[in-house]
Order: sequence, then structure tokens, then C-alpha cells
Amino acid sequence: MSIASSIDPGVGQFSLSDQDFDAIAKFAHKNFGLALSSNKKPLVSSRLSRRLNKLKVQNFNKYLASLDAPGGEGERSELLSLLTTNVTQFFRESHHFDTLRNDVLPPLIEKARSGGRVRLWSAGCSNGQEPYSIAMVLHKLCPEAGRLDIKILGTDIDPVVVRTAQAAQYPADELAQIPAEYRVKGDSGADNKMPEVIRSRVSFGVLNLIEPFPFRGKFDAIFCRNVAIYFDTPTQQKVWAAFQASLNPNGYLFIGHSERMSGPAATQLKTAGITTYINSSAGTLA
Ligand SMILES: C[S@@+](CC[C@H](N)C(=O)[O-])C[C@H]1O[C@@H](n2cnc3c(N)ncnc32)[C@H](O)[C@@H]1O
Repeated sequence: MSIASSIDPGVGQFSLSDQDFDAIAKFAHKNFGLALSSNKKPLVSSRLSRRLNKLKVQNFNKYLASLDAPGGEGERSELLSLLTTNVTQFFRESHHFDTLRNDVLPPLIEKARSGGRVRLWSAGCSNGQEPYSIAMVLHKLCPEAGRLDIKILGTDIDPVVVRTAQAAQYPADELAQIPAEYRVKGDSGADNKMPEVIRSRVSFGVLNLIEPFPFRGKFDAIFCRNVAIYFDTPTQQKVWAAFQASLNPNGYLFIGHSERMSGPAATQLKTAGITTYINSSAGTLA
């Protein structure tokens, strides 16, 4: 590994050598599935130099070694946060929630009312606004969902955002993004917390999407939006295939506005709207 990186005495910043950038890019690809092209070097350099200054680590070699060392999980997730964004909001890309309300949920609620099992997954859920938005639509259509076998799972690779999601407390300006029709009256509390009836529909966990999924059962709908955008095409295609394999027949996959379906999963996941796919197959590719 290179020792060319050093503190630039003029500006108190680290300069990132090409070899160091390659080492970080390799680490991020192997561990998080991220594709860092060389045009990201200035961004990575400035974000990492701030981090190294904060940690008072003198060079990148030491930093890279700390990532692999026992107990390095915390810094690995810090690195991931530096390289990606957790930007999200309630009812982001609202057309997906219209499809959820009009097409996806009604038959699933019928299935649950007849004793069936319904599972919805927000994969790469960041601070939780996405799975809570799903829960609010569900509550609107089915206020008795708590008595049925309908569950929503939110997962993210970053334990920090998962904890924020579990805490379910949001600034007032973020809560104001929730359309009036989905707000739960009389239960919002003074602390800006998601109402209990919404919170209790969702459970959370830490999960890296480039590793094999640990689930035994299948999902009826998966939201994975604005996550695969960080992956290279082969990694994206593996993740799409793993989602296809995790969906029930006629299950839905929602992806982000700048993401595209491709690879073997594209033969099974048929377009059903803008960045919306329906699983036409009972078989699996992954
Ligand atoms: C921009 S946010 C998207 C949040 C939400 N899905 C939305 O569209 O508003 C991207 C999230 O993907 C997560 N992420 C990045 N790589 C991941 C991986 N390999 N496995 C799981 N989550 C990942 C990040 O931690 C971040 O919280």
C-alpha cells in the first residue's frame, strides 16, 4: 500500500495519492458494493481528510489498517456514511405510494384479512422515512393491520441510521412533508415521534445488500430506491436478481428514479409503472 499520502502543510489537509484512492475504492467495492470512479477522487479526498483530521490519524495507511482491524466495524460504517448519502424524505417519489395504495396493498390486505401473510421491505431505508411512509399508507387502508399478519421491515447497512429510524423522532419540517390524508390524528405527541400505531407496524435491522439475504420467507413488495445507484452494473444486477428471488409471484419492486433494471432479473421483473416492476415468475434466478 502506498505511503504517498501525507498532510499538506500548506492547508492542513491530507493529499490522497492515486494508489490510496484505489485502495479505498477497492475496500468500498468489496465491503459495501460501492463503485467509486476516479472522478470521485476530489470528493473522497476532501471528506476523508476531514475524517482523518478529526481522528488525528497521520496517514491513510494507518486509516486503512484500522478499517480491517478487529473492532473496525464502527469506522467502516463511518466510511460508508462519508462515501454515500442518507438523504431521504417522507413520501419521496410519491407516485410509488400511489401505486402502493391503489394497486399493491388492496389485494394484499384482502389476503391478510383471509389469514394470509404479507411482508413489505424497505431495503436501504436510511433514517426510516420510507418504511414509515409505507406504514402510513397501510394504516390509511387498513387501520386494523396490527391484528393481521402484515409486517414491514426496514434495513440499512449503516447502524447509525437504523438507530435513528428506530427512535422514530423527526424534525417538524420533515413531518410536514407527510400529506395531510396520511397523518394520524390525535396520536402525534408533543415530541415529534411517529405515532405508536405507525411505529409498531415496522421493525428494523442492519443488512448489507451485497451479502446473501438471511430471510426464509418471501416479500410481497420491496422498495429499494436510491441505493443501487452507488453500485456498479454487475453488483446492481446481482442485487436485482436477489430481490427477484425474494419476491412472491406478482410481488412488486420499486427502484429509484435514476436507477435502471438490467441483467437476468429483467426477464422476470416486468415494468408496471415508472421504476416499478412486478415479478412475473415463481422461479428464482439468484
Ligand atoms: C440515499 S439513501 C436512500 C434512502 C431511501 N431508500 C430513499 O430513497 O429515500 C441510501 C441508503 O442506502 C444505504 N446503503 C448504501 N450501500 C448499502 C448496502 N450495500 N447495503 C444496504 N444499504 C446500503 C445507505 O446507508 C443509505 O442509507
